[in-house]
Amino acid sequence: MNKAKKQAQRLLNFIDSSPSPWHVTTSIITELEEKKFQCLDEREAWHLAPGGRYYVVRDGSSIIGFIVGSGDLTQHGFRIIAAHTDSPGLRVKPHAAHTCGPMIRLGVEVYGGPILATFTDRDLGLAGRVVIKTGSAVTDIDTPLIHFKKPLVRIPNMAIHMNKEVNEAGLKLDRQNELPMMLSVLQEDLPAQQQFLAIIAHEIGVEADAILSWELQVFDTQPGSFFGPDDQFIANGQLDNLASCHAGLCALLDVDNPIATNMIAYFDHEEVGSRSCKGAGGSFLPDILERISINLDRESQKRALSNSFILSADMAHAYHPNYPKFYDNEHQVVINAGPAIKINANQRYSSDSISEALFVRLCEEADVPYQKYVHRSNLPCGGTIGAITAAKVGIRSVDVGNPLWSMHSARESAGTLDHDYMIRAMIALFRMN
Ligand code: CO
Repeated sequence: MNKAKKQAQRLLNFIDSSPSPWHVTTSIITELEEKKFQCLDEREAWHLAPGGRYYVVRDGSSIIGFIVGSGDLTQHGFRIIAAHTDSPGLRVKPHAAHTCGPMIRLGVEVYGGPILATFTDRDLGLAGRVVIKTGSAVTDIDTPLIHFKKPLVRIPNMAIHMNKEVNEAGLKLDRQNELPMMLSVLQEDLPAQQQFLAIIAHEIGVEADAILSWELQVFDTQPGSFFGPDDQFIANGQLDNLASCHAGLCALLDVDNPIATNMIAYFDHEEVGSRSCKGAGGSFLPDILERISINLDRESQKRALSNSFILSADMAHAYHPNYPKFYDNEHQVVINAGPAIKINANQRYSSDSISEALFVRLCEEADVPYQKYVHRSNLPCGGTIGAITAAKVGIRSVDVGNPLWSMHSARESAGTLDHDYMIRAMIALFRMN
């Protein structure tokens, strides 16, 4: 338990310092650079060395890190762990601040599919990137990240006295009228948006009129925690899917001098369908694989892809004993019982019998328990980046994920043991010849 708890604590710290996809990438870069990974710019020419350690970022929030294998790329190919950097939630609108009676509120858009009710009555912060003007030319811009660590905004619940049915009907929130967040009490002398701009400008140390635009995510400022006897469980925001990102990163950093080219490929925009220049449905991964193998002839490039493997990691629905009717009895996956292999005949998940078997062998090699997850046959099944990525690059793939309660809640929970299990299974992949 001690080693597993240490790994889980590292994960909680990783999440606490990564409240937006841009911060996720930054946290990963920090760890990669400590281990001598070099930054590659997509606009420059690349000169890769055997055994070299590199990373590439696309638009700040998708990142690929890799170690060039010592073996022949044609024969050994790529070992890729894929995951996503984004989490569902609320995003601050451009003209967010507005007055409503005596209050200033911030309007939000819903990003992906969060459980909206979980964002009420929480100590919410804002984080993301701001684009500022730095000079007179059109291209004179900078993109500082912003992270309000203290609670800044709130969505207070309606008192039960005025919402008497809430416990029977559930908490339903109108996205336009009932999600705007309380920022402050109106001060007569300054318009609402200017007050908000002043807060942003002060935080990043610029004049308010330098601010051109932003992508700001709402997050829960409560740090991650352990709970349960012997700290069996962990709770935090964004466990989906930062737990998988962190596990893959730990595995990449654990294996020196691999024979195959080991890679992590983490994409933004999974929660909104992956179709963007930096999403899993875009050209990011194919472009990077092509550039790594650019000195091979076309046939050898294709052979390298055929000799490759993708492990797509995203969280799985842990069995919830209060809601047994939502699970297939024979395919319940349980917290702290190891990674789940996700299987769907309709290819919502990328796993096939071969990739499934391969992951079983990796778990056996790592002495890690594993589980198999299949959604109930009479419920629609979600999807993740596995099938999208596999289709894009033509590489065999398996979809796996650690069991998670309350997926897409502002505060999700999972098992302390499972994180270490997943890291060990991933290390086995990166050690595979
Ligand atoms: Co996910």
